[in-house]
Amino acid sequence: LAKIEIKLAEIPEGKSVTFKWRGKPLFIRHRTASEIQTERSVDLGSLRDPQHDNDRAQQPEWLVIIGVCTHLGCVPIANAGDFGGYYCPCHGSHYDASGRIRKGPAPLNLEIPPYEFPGDGTLVVG
Ligand code: FES
Repeated sequence: LAKIEIKLAEIPEGKSVTFKWRGKPLFIRHRTASEIQTERSVDLGSLRDPQHDNDRAQQPEWLVIIGVCTHLGCVPIANAGDFGGYYCPCHGSHYDASGRIRKGPAPLNLEIPPYEFPGDGTLVVG
């Protein structure tokens, strides 16, 4: 399937849910106010792959990322690691709640797929 439609009401605040999109894991995270505040205030100078959270999340409550570690392709674990986001157990890469690489061998942030919010309570990825 080229596109996937997700009902946002089914993902409670604070949860990261995994879907499958084009054969890859897709992580949708309903971020809390404190996660949003934390990620929006990160100093870009401290990042290996500097990207502001504003440029990674169209709507601050929703993080939409591909769940494939940018090191060697393992699937990171949600709500784990030192930065409150994702942890890849293969070689120890830590990502934050914006999917940005913060520690460990991965070179790049977790990839963001094309997506949109059609305005009817759904998210469409693809
Ligand atoms: Fe994730 Fe190596 S594949 S840290």
